[in-house]
Amino acid sequence: MRRTMIVAGTLLLGVGAVMAQQEIAVQQDNLMRSIAKNQYGIIQKITKGDIPYDQKAVDQAIASMEADVAKIAKTFEVNPKQDVVNATYGASQKVWQNKADFDSKIPPVQKAIADVKGKITNVASLKAAYTAINDRCTDCHETYRVKLK
Ligand code: HEC
Repeated sequence: MRRTMIVAGTLLLGVGAVMAQQEIAVQQDNLMRSIAKNQYGIIQKITKGDIPYDQKAVDQAIASMEADVAKIAKTFEVNPKQDVVNATYGASQKVWQNKADFDSKIPPVQKAIADVKGKITNVASLKAAYTAINDRCTDCHETYRVKLK
């Protein structure tokens, strides 16, 4: 009886750990999706003419990205050792093998955002800002993001 309880307890702990790890992976993915909502859902769409230029929306998108990018290092602190179920992109294990190098990819994004903040006034300057920021996102994705499907 006692043995059965211990086995059951260990199994439950195992399930709890798996769920917690999935939650961590989801948090990491949600942070990237939130960044993408601004960079692709607003900024890129305006540069393509899919939605009209809107100064307030642009300023908000830049401010939200600034806040989100500041959370990357901490959000990716723990290795969930699993991908989000059914996700298109996952984090490479290299993130946690070279966490200092991973973290070093963040300040260049922050600098690109700081450089354009408050200076975007039209589609042309927005396009330049989009490219400058996106190139820095790619610098991290090239090494640390894995395409799963
Ligand atoms: C320091 C590294 C790093 C930086 C900087 C970074 N990312 Fe990511 N990004 C990742 C990793 C790792 C993943 C894969 C894991 C995940 O989705 O959580 C990812 C995933 C993504 C995804 C795919 C999400 C999905 O599952 O559909 C998008 C979109 C994305 N990032 C956008 C951006 C944008 C836009 C920027 C720049 C403003 C950016 N990222 C900056 C590391 C980074």
